[in-house]
Amino acid sequence: MARRKKIYEGKAKTLYEGPEPGTLVQYFKDDATAFNAEKHDIIEGKGVLNNILSEFFMLGLGQIGVPTHFLKRLNMREQLVRSCEIIPLEIIVRNYAAGSLSKRLGIDEGTQLPRPIVEYCYKDDGLGDPLVTEEHIAAFGWASQQDMDDILSLALRVNDFMSGVMLAVGIRLVDFKIEIGRVYDGDFQRLVIADEISPDSCRLWDIKTGQKLDKDVFRRDLGSLTDAYTEVARRLGVMPNNPPAPGKPQLVN
Ligand SMILES: Nc1ncnc2c1ncn2[C@@H]1O[C@H](COP(=O)(O)OP(=O)(O)O)[C@@H](O)[C@H]1O
Ligand SMILES: [Mg+2]
Repeated sequence: MARRKKIYEGKAKTLYEGPEPGTLVQYFKDDATAFNAEKHDIIEGKGVLNNILSEFFMLGLGQIGVPTHFLKRLNMREQLVRSCEIIPLEIIVRNYAAGSLSKRLGIDEGTQLPRPIVEYCYKDDGLGDPLVTEEHIAAFGWASQQDMDDILSLALRVNDFMSGVMLAVGIRLVDFKIEIGRVYDGDFQRLVIADEISPDSCRLWDIKTGQKLDKDVFRRDLGSLTDAYTEVARRLGVMPNNPPAPGKPQLVN
């Protein structure tokens, strides 16, 4: 097989040139990083779970008319996506206080917020993805006012969808982060949900016990990350049918 061209190697995924122009292959790695990559580990099986979970959420969003970059899952670790121009913002939606919001504003983790709060961070690892305001975004031209209106409405639709899907399986969607990209259809540009939606990019707490089922398990050394992500996948009914048996050759589909 011809060697394919690597476009970008990130912390959790590698991007390869796709089979057709305008497409990319997203390969989900087992690497887990936190605190701007100060903490790093290999968590066996994480990439497989995130690939399948991200497919599940992106497909669901597509079904309710929220455009995404997802085209199809190729195998256990890879998916085909539309290549887009990523808007250099991390869009965070919060329903309950946690993490940096709790720290910044002194609100106890788990406090329900009066309404969903949308925050923007400038996507730059070197700077630690700093929080920015719409003033910065407009002044530096990272997104237009029209883009910002669309981004807000997409973020809130993703929030409603994800909150509902999670609630149905006894999980609270505390917060999440998405990335949004531009795609061009002829002369028109549209925004689509890009990157991934997975327990790496959400805070998910069991509603009854409060148990954390997301990357905080890794950040805060709370146990097995694979067990947590497997639990999310199991509840959503998307566990891979053939979990790899050690030492045996595996057919990938
Ligand atoms: N559809 C897409 N088109 C182009 N770039 C994308 C797309 N989806 C995600 N990306 C980018 O690919 C990278 C994914 O790899 P990841 O390991 O998450 O990187 P990072 O370490 O930068 O977070 C991110 O930089 C993300 O912005
Ligand atoms: Mg990333």
